[in-house]
Amino acid sequence: MTAKIVVVGSFNMDLTSYMPRMPRPGETLHGTRFQTGPGGKGSNQAVAAARLGADVTFVGRVGTDIFADNAFQIWNSENINTRYVIRDPENPTGVAPIWVEETTGQNAIVVILGANKVLSRQDIDSAAEAIARADILIAQLETDIDATAYALKLAKQSNVRTILNPAPAATLPDEMIANADILTPNETELEVLSRRTLDDIDAAARSLIRRDDQTVVVTLGAGGAQIVTSKNSINKPAIEVQPVDTTGAGDCFTGALAVALGEGKTLEEAVRFANTAAGICVTRPGTATSMPSRQEVDVLIPE
Ligand code: RIB
Repeated sequence: MTAKIVVVGSFNMDLTSYMPRMPRPGETLHGTRFQTGPGGKGSNQAVAAARLGADVTFVGRVGTDIFADNAFQIWNSENINTRYVIRDPENPTGVAPIWVEETTGQNAIVVILGANKVLSRQDIDSAAEAIARADILIAQLETDIDATAYALKLAKQSNVRTILNPAPAATLPDEMIANADILTPNETELEVLSRRTLDDIDAAARSLIRRDDQTVVVTLGAGGAQIVTSKNSINKPAIEVQPVDTTGAGDCFTGALAVALGEGKTLEEAVRFANTAAGICVTRPGTATSMPSRQEVDVLIPE
């Protein structure tokens, strides 16, 4: 069964510099290489889901500049439906300068959201029909929060399962959290969203749960993912890899999770699938371009 996924989200052009270590404030450091490529949490999740075999529709805003052309290039090459993407003449396409430390694969990112920030309720309403037909709606926090919250609400009203990747870290209105069936924060995002310290991950995750059928899946990098419900907590380990660039790994995880759930897999099976996809993603440089194919994941997925 092919999963039908709608991603409401961002596109950014990623401007990535690789370096032996992160520079300190006031320091000039020699980098080793520079790469531009398609990114943005929403678009990365859409590309991940499409490469893993889903039927994907993207809802978002880009500018009318050359970076917007790059966005359509990748979406078209991955067969992502762009009918609900608006080219905004008044705002530039989002950009994201990224630093990647080569020794660890860790990154630091600045996002300048541009057109992503003016996604509106009206834009979501135009895509209402596609949202109602989806198996899963995915959202993140690089688009206008009111419009994003509205998309989650609309999806819930149409009985569509919702996944909110609460990234970048932010605090959110209660109703928005309640309209996410599954939340996929990393540790930093969990800390900010729950307003708690992380000495007890389960307690922090549980503080986000507003109803019994909600789940928080905390992504822990090399520590795998912690599936937390109101009653249980279980860890699913990561696959062992040598990370080269961790940028986009969380996006890969969320996109893959949506695909597996949309295909009818259980949550535990879906997390195992998503861990494997994200594990492959970190072994390659770049963001959208580092998303794995279905065949690559199927070969590596542990029994
Ligand atoms: O999650 C990685 C993404 O965060 C990058 O592609 C960058 O654009 C920022 O949105």
